[in-house]
Amino acid sequence: MAEAQVHKNFIGGEWVDSESGKTYQVKNPAHKTTVVGEFQSSTRVDASRAIDAASASLAAWADTPAPQRASVLSRALGILERRGDELARSITVEEGKPLPDAQGEVKRAMNIIEYAAGEGRRMFGYTTPSELPTTVAYTVRRPVGVVAIITPWNFPLAIPAWKMGPALICGNTLVFKPASSTPMTAVKLVEVFEEAGLPPGVLNLVTGSGSSVGNTLVESPDVKGISFTGSTEIGTGIYADGARSLKKVQCEMGGKNAVILLEDADLDKALDGIVQGAFGSTGQRCTATSRAIVEESIYDDFMGQLIDRTSKLKVGDGLDPEVDVSPLSSESQLNTVMGYIGIGAEEGANLAYGGKQLSGGIYDDGYYVEPTIFTNVDPSMRIAQEEIFGPVLTAFKARDMDHAMEISNNVEFGLSSSIYTRDLTKAFHYVNTSEAGMVHVNAPTLGGEVHLPFGGLKSSGVGHREQGVEAMEFFSEVITVYVDYGGVPRTQAKFI
Ligand code: UN1
Repeated sequence: MAEAQVHKNFIGGEWVDSESGKTYQVKNPAHKTTVVGEFQSSTRVDASRAIDAASASLAAWADTPAPQRASVLSRALGILERRGDELARSITVEEGKPLPDAQGEVKRAMNIIEYAAGEGRRMFGYTTPSELPTTVAYTVRRPVGVVAIITPWNFPLAIPAWKMGPALICGNTLVFKPASSTPMTAVKLVEVFEEAGLPPGVLNLVTGSGSSVGNTLVESPDVKGISFTGSTEIGTGIYADGARSLKKVQCEMGGKNAVILLEDADLDKALDGIVQGAFGSTGQRCTATSRAIVEESIYDDFMGQLIDRTSKLKVGDGLDPEVDVSPLSSESQLNTVMGYIGIGAEEGANLAYGGKQLSGGIYDDGYYVEPTIFTNVDPSMRIAQEEIFGPVLTAFKARDMDHAMEISNNVEFGLSSSIYTRDLTKAFHYVNTSEAGMVHVNAPTLGGEVHLPFGGLKSSGVGHREQGVEAMEFFSEVITVYVDYGGVPRTQAKFI
């Protein structure tokens, strides 16, 4: 068997080995014996070196005019486009998602880089009249400083890109710690910025574990900001630890997203949206639909259609163009999801479809679980409350809209939500009262556009939203400037 390629860290503009001398292997979740690559098992020392490199390059990058920083991003956009197929394949072989989803992810990364490059010619502050004569008052933006970018495995390209684009255009320098299971796409993304001409030290990559690399970034007084996406448990710790050195912190965390389906809705459209939301990307996205709350009068009919549609989904390797649902991303994901399926059965929910790990043929080679639907779920059950992060949908029967809203809002999370109805009054009541940071009407819980804010309420998010103008707010400090251009001492200046 060919030797796996060894990938390095990127620190101060050089590709370097970890001081540990150790590497670890990443395997393909659809072919668990196939090694995708070998990556550096980095230590606290490596992370500290990366912080030092980012600190050393900060002043020059911060002084580079934002439109020039934008030129680097524009070049990166062209390289992303050129390497798009390779990047999509890299996402699929290390994360497992179907290739069309991976291609969509590449497009999303391109969109945010394009958007961020445009911000280089805006980056607005404001001017406002001063209460003093001969005085100009205005605001400008400065970078936050060295920022840690800590990202999950489920969007190994788009999430890093949607943090880096805004962070770089605002003049920050970065230490990037990707999820340990998806470092290959991270390496490629860093290569893109290197080729685009980003100066050495502005973007540093350190692969390895959260306990060594992540903790060093969170604890360092030289790191002034952290942008994190991942579990609520880890995010809560990062938020608390970051506060000790007064860092700016944004955490984008878990979800338990619900779709409400009212009896007047376009049921075909809802069926598409729920199947895509629950089982697309194998349910491994924080915006996945994990609850369907259906009005009583249409419940039986709709659940029949939903189960029928779900039974037609093809499960297999994400590189197979026919496949709808690909493997879970790792053995630990498989164990978590199978664990929740067991819990649901024990709690007395009705396993209406799926529920089994698939075996035989290609399935023995990867972490495959059937798309799974539980009906007769009680809102207090663990499978109704906790994030599963897999292809598992829980279904609830609601007496009416108020009952549906009660079920929908009664969870600790508040990331994304959706309602299907043709009734505008009900739709707007929903928009006004749904406890979620992103609310959809007649559309799946998934996704978002890069020029609009992305993030959630309650245990789903804390700190500024990602993307859109809010990202510029997070990645910059606003400085207020007063300039008195008059020749008169302040004490003698006359007010009207
Ligand atoms: C999407 O809904 O397409 O970790 C993106 C996640 C989210 C991103 C979801 N931060 O799944």
